[in-house]
Amino acid sequence: MRGFFLLIAFFLGCVLIVVLFSFGAGISARREAGQFERQASRAVWRFMVPGPIKIKENPVADSAETVRDATQLWVDRCVVCHANDGGGTTLGRSLHPPAPDLRKVLTQSLTDGELFYAIEQGIPWTGMPAWGNGSQENERESWSLVRFVRNIPKLTPADLRAIEKFVPRAPQRVETDRRAPGPAGSKTDTRERLASR
Ligand code: HEC
Repeated sequence: MRGFFLLIAFFLGCVLIVVLFSFGAGISARREAGQFERQASRAVWRFMVPGPIKIKENPVADSAETVRDATQLWVDRCVVCHANDGGGTTLGRSLHPPAPDLRKVLTQSLTDGELFYAIEQGIPWTGMPAWGNGSQENERESWSLVRFVRNIPKLTPADLRAIEKFVPRAPQRVETDRRAPGPAGSKTDTRERLASR
């Protein structure tokens, strides 16, 4: 019993220290998550992905047709945050935590199963929505999106032009979006973009 109270006292002490240190600092989604915060939440998420799914092989064929068929899904469901090329839109990068650059090794080093799980189940406490609905048809779509994500680092300018054809937007808007992705990790101010039109 005494141990229990000590534990509670320790916990409350920790909370008090955090509150005292952050008092007056405000709360903002503009703050970049620290290295530790990012690595810790990622490690917890990866730990929670069920083992059999983590090592599951992608049941959808690794072919150009799969990637082409997944393009419509990618445009319908993902580009609003991840951008046509996976680098992240202003909206996606302004979330906290931000939508990561899917072309980078951090994402590409995840297993197919982990990518599938992120898409089907979403990532709780982040802006990443769950796209699964329990149906096998939907699971197939998520597996084909995994193929699409794997192909992202290899996209050529011609591929990107082909993807743009799927995007239901005015040509002028497509042009601004193409210019939007700044240097890795930077946030492009929407007001700046509007002013520069
Ligand atoms: C509303 C914005 C939003 C949409 C729409 C969205 N995502 Fe995400 N996505 C995010 C955010 C934010 C993260 C980062 C979550 C985190 O930090 O753990 C993320 C993470 C991911 C990851 C994990 C990357 C990594 O390295 O951890 C994958 C894979 C992914 N998204 C794929 C997709 C696919 C495929 C779609 C479309 C089916 C999609 N996302 C739609 C916001 C979005």
